[in-house]
Amino acid sequence: MKLWAGRFQKDTDRAVENFTASIHFDQRLYRYDILGSIAHSRMLVKQGIIEQGEGDAIVRGLAEILDEIETDQFPWRVELEDVHMNVEARLKEKIGDVAGKLHTARSRNDQVALDARLFAKDAIRDAVERLAAVQQTLTELSRKHLGAVMPGYTHLQRAQPVLLSHHLMAYFEMFQRDVARFRAAYQRCDVLPLGSGALAGTTFPIDREAVREALGFAEASRNSMDSVSDRDFVVDYLAAAATVMMHLSRLAEEFVLWSSGEFGFVELDDAYSTGSSMMPQKKNPDVAELIRGKTGRVYGHLQAILTLLKALPLTYNRDLQEDKEAFFDTVDTLLACLELMNGMLRSARFVTERMRGAAGESFTLATDVADYLVRRGLPFRQAHEVVGKLVAYCLDTDRDLTRLTLEEYRRYSPAFDSDVLNITVTSAVGARACPGGTAPRQVDAAMQAADAIVEDNLEWLKQTPPIRLIPLT
Ligand code: ARG
Repeated sequence: MKLWAGRFQKDTDRAVENFTASIHFDQRLYRYDILGSIAHSRMLVKQGIIEQGEGDAIVRGLAEILDEIETDQFPWRVELEDVHMNVEARLKEKIGDVAGKLHTARSRNDQVALDARLFAKDAIRDAVERLAAVQQTLTELSRKHLGAVMPGYTHLQRAQPVLLSHHLMAYFEMFQRDVARFRAAYQRCDVLPLGSGALAGTTFPIDREAVREALGFAEASRNSMDSVSDRDFVVDYLAAAATVMMHLSRLAEEFVLWSSGEFGFVELDDAYSTGSSMMPQKKNPDVAELIRGKTGRVYGHLQAILTLLKALPLTYNRDLQEDKEAFFDTVDTLLACLELMNGMLRSARFVTERMRGAAGESFTLATDVADYLVRRGLPFRQAHEVVGKLVAYCLDTDRDLTRLTLEEYRRYSPAFDSDVLNITVTSAVGARACPGGTAPRQVDAAMQAADAIVEDNLEWLKQTPPIRLIPLT
């Protein structure tokens, strides 16, 4: 029998049962659900709302249920709709009618909000952990390749030489903003909704502070109506995840390009590539392509949840049940993409000779020649024009700026001296020594700052233990 069957005269239509059930996806919340129920029942005992013996029976029953679920012996039933009612109905089978006391001063509305927030806290923590791992890989690769020069691009046209490390550390910065977004999301998520009842609170003398403490929330919510309606914490997660995916997709795209024959900057490890069923020569960057592709899926989930919540009247509406699949799929997708990106990066080989060769081609030193003239007193605009003409001359005569003689330079400006011939890829990189620039000294400083940032992220992780590890007794 349904736990809410009292006022009904007919059985639920089978189609309605199937349509309204969420058990096939929300069973994933079982641990958080049981943890919440244990904390709640202990508080009921402490407040004298239920008897000690009743509370003990409930906790014992819940522990058995946890064991059944984890050993795959739990009889999940669609007609019981969701994880909350499956657990409660099973508890009744185990300990009898006293199981019915567990739901005193509680509604599924604050219960599901609790479960989802606990799940979200773990999901956020996991995201930060994987982001931190990718960041560490980026700093390691940057250290290993410090000195490797490559072309920097704008419009995907060679622009100016940069250090490979500088390019990689650009992603470190993006991922750090992502970490900051998740850490901020964690703080907003870290609010106990339990105790809000169905929407208006409860008539029982509950102790929300005790439950907050037991479940490890930073604070308890201030408005019961908000608590049961709010899914901002899901939006926060999805928005942060979408931004990570956007960053991952850019890095993935660069690896697709760099591993092509045309670029030849990177050789992907065999273990991180796949072959073609027809073309024997092929080694494809499928991992990078799939990360790029899965970005669309995560964007879609964000859009779906924003649309789900749009114009929803207070307080709980069944629409809210639709938050979970998008949320869960985003968590799984994001964590997998971060892990695979990390593995791909760690195992890739950077073809630094080829990068260096490309770094000096296509007039990447033109800005340095113009800057040279500026140091000789020419206004930058004029210097720009002189070098533009030099480039045109080179193109006409099929030359490169580095191949011109001093006489040729002087034909375009008397300000040129023999030291213009000293401009090289190495000098160009070294000259960009302003803070944030690509000079080795600055990149080194950025990497030291990065070490402190990684330290801080690791410290946060240490201070933020997983909810799933809270002991259940
Ligand atoms: N399965 C529901 C959900 O995920 C739980 C809350 C149901 N509440 C209700 N009043 N029907 O949202």
